[in-house]
Amino acid sequence: MENRSNFSSRIGFVLAAAGSAVGLGNIWRFPYLAAKYGGGIFLLVYILLVVSFGFAIMMAEIAIGRKTGLSAIGAYRKLNQKYAFIGIITSLVPMIILPYYSVIGGWVTKYFVTFLGGSHTAAAGDNFFTGFISSPVEPIVWFAIFLALTFVVVLLGVKRGIEKANKFLMPALVVLSVVVAVYAVTLPGAGEGVKYYLMPDFSKFSIKTVLGALGQMFYSMSLAMGIMITYGSYMKKEADIEKSVKQIEWFDTGIALLAGLMIVPAVFVFTGGNEASLKAGPGLMFQTLPKVFESMGAPTIIGSLFFLLVLFAALTSSISLMETVVSIFQDKFKWKRTKACIIVFLGAFVVGLTSSLGYGPWSEFTILGFSFLDFYDFISNSVIMPIVALMTCLFVAYVIGTKTIIEEVKLSSQFKREKIFTVMIKYIAPVCILAILITSVLGAFNIFSI
Ligand code: PHE
Repeated sequence: MENRSNFSSRIGFVLAAAGSAVGLGNIWRFPYLAAKYGGGIFLLVYILLVVSFGFAIMMAEIAIGRKTGLSAIGAYRKLNQKYAFIGIITSLVPMIILPYYSVIGGWVTKYFVTFLGGSHTAAAGDNFFTGFISSPVEPIVWFAIFLALTFVVVLLGVKRGIEKANKFLMPALVVLSVVVAVYAVTLPGAGEGVKYYLMPDFSKFSIKTVLGALGQMFYSMSLAMGIMITYGSYMKKEADIEKSVKQIEWFDTGIALLAGLMIVPAVFVFTGGNEASLKAGPGLMFQTLPKVFESMGAPTIIGSLFFLLVLFAALTSSISLMETVVSIFQDKFKWKRTKACIIVFLGAFVVGLTSSLGYGPWSEFTILGFSFLDFYDFISNSVIMPIVALMTCLFVAYVIGTKTIIEEVKLSSQFKREKIFTVMIKYIAPVCILAILITSVLGAFNIFSI
């Protein structure tokens, strides 16, 4: 399409893609997974996977987007009519994630405002979090605010909205992360926690470490949901794809490592080295951390800074989700941006209501034993995403051929890691993805747990 918008610079593209990648996954999920799977050994496995596996899939997605100039739904069709269905399945992922991600974004917004207003003692109270998410109206209001912020940026378009917002939010996020991490690791007694986080515990290494790291990598790098295809479609032909992917990887992994430094040592000090509280999963950020902040000097400042950085991270991710859905509708129905944005906003709001109410008045309703929010999370991350990733690899390797991607990359630069790319996409990635798919589905039904 001739009049497709573009990022004005390569760095604009990198910041927007990194903005998508850096999100709630980096900040609350990564640290507790690292704590659970043996600290340094998990970090090591994770980094190896990012530069091999994650690298190959991200290269493929961005190149598909740039080559076709379309979002997922049109991109697969354009490359091969018979495989248009892959684009349709891919497009489901951001549509399912956007609503519930924004509900959680609403919780983060509420926490930021609570800390900013000085109510840190209330936030650290035992029933604060459960009381809040189970009330019928309040979480919906915060969810609407968060979704509206996302909407405004996406409405402004690729250059004036997304690129501008990320150019401000991402550097601010880095600064805030460094400030909070430095503060946390210099707390008295934090050394033990830093050691626990960084020293590899080889006895904890198992196949579960690899599968855990693999699942996290997919989610964290925003792969297999059409986002990188859409952002790739806004990339200029002369921009170096490989260099961009390397920078996005650094950004994403760097913030995840910093998040661990912000959280693990502080929780370690607070609980006197109790590992269980680190492995508590979602409750860690909303329940344990406010208590940790309360126990330190200056809870208002540190709590506000922390939740502001989480808010920025969540916002840049939800922007990428909404933009992907909007561009799917624009490509498919030839709608104007404004119309597509309004419809996506309203649709996401209605679907998100189920997630929000699912923790409150509708908590008796469950789907396959999951609450609404957990169900959307499970179906998108554990079922559809691995399927999409598998189909993407097979499509690139055996339908269009890796050379289609390699040629696209070489339009603008050399392809240094071409060999790794080819081996990954053709052989290693499909096998690993199948393993994640099987374990996550079995895990959900407690047949096998990772
Ligand atoms: N990559 C984001 C993170 O780490 C998560 C995300 C998921 C972003 C889906 C966009 C879409 O939190």
